[in-house]
Amino acid sequence: MTTAIIIDTDPGIDDVVTLALAARSPELEIVAVTTTYGNATLARTTRNARHVLALAGRSDIPVIPGADRPLVRPLVTAPETHGESGVGHAEPEGEGEGEGEAGPPSSSALPAVVVALHLADAPITLVTLGPLTNLAHALRTDPDLVVTRVRRHIGMFGSLHERGNTNRWADFNAWCDPEAVAEVFGAELPTEMVGLDVTRRMTLDRAEVVRLGRSSDPLVRWLADALRFYVEFHCRQERLDGCVVNDVLTIGQLLEPHLLDFARFRLKIDTGDGEYRGRTLSDPAGAAIRVALDVDVTAMRRLLDRVFGHAWDRPVAEE
Ligand code: RIB
Ligand code: CA
Repeated sequence: MTTAIIIDTDPGIDDVVTLALAARSPELEIVAVTTTYGNATLARTTRNARHVLALAGRSDIPVIPGADRPLVRPLVTAPETHGESGVGHAEPEGEGEGEGEAGPPSSSALPAVVVALHLADAPITLVTLGPLTNLAHALRTDPDLVVTRVRRHIGMFGSLHERGNTNRWADFNAWCDPEAVAEVFGAELPTEMVGLDVTRRMTLDRAEVVRLGRSSDPLVRWLADALRFYVEFHCRQERLDGCVVNDVLTIGQLLEPHLLDFARFRLKIDTGDGEYRGRTLSDPAGAAIRVALDVDVTAMRRLLDRVFGHAWDRPVAEE
């Protein structure tokens, strides 16, 4: 029994690890990948998505470029976190330096998530790993299609109690486009928020990333080059001798239904421009959202063996 999914993503270093995990999980039928601006520009996130799927032997999966900027706010990307390329020290292949093949959709183009939903012949699970702009565009264009075809939405975004990574309160995905989050909340989809409350606990340490660089698997070595940059960022920014691979928990939850513990909240998001921009907070008048509050990190690390093999088990060879 496979689960049909669409992944909306802004690759991004934790995104490419997550795409590799999904591609190496036969339980998942990836109907399409839709890309968005976020960690890098749309052209680069689209190039990166195509490249990691090709490395995973899944060039058959359609990659559909979506939004190249937030609904109303100016574009902000995260080169300091993910590199100008979006994949750190990994060698990106294909177009993406200019506008190239992943140029911004024409004004008449259907939103990427609408195109992807039409590719599915039954209700799907929508996994979002970036800002929610693409989902918001789909809701604006064809709300009935989204409501009938998205049986479940699980997204890495937000934070309830954990400190933010973009300001004191907000994660990057919610901060990029709070208006999009507000529109998604307003649609009352069956949304599960996998936020920093759990993702901050999913880390890879520097020594593990070094070991991955010695793997015989070209995909793993490429991911290790990306992760090396991510470790350098986390070391500078958070004094962490490792990196937080936020996005993997969404796919992990689809593979292991008891990976995360959820609680029901009514949430709203701060759409102001001050220090609380992008803060997701509890509000009795808010949208009914399931929020992940606990995670089985050991089970998640076991799942990552599907990507890393046992490259990260072997002790570091004597220098
Ligand atoms: O706040 C973390 C999220 O923002 C992750 O999805 C990361 O890839 C960035 O998109
Ligand atoms: Ca992401």
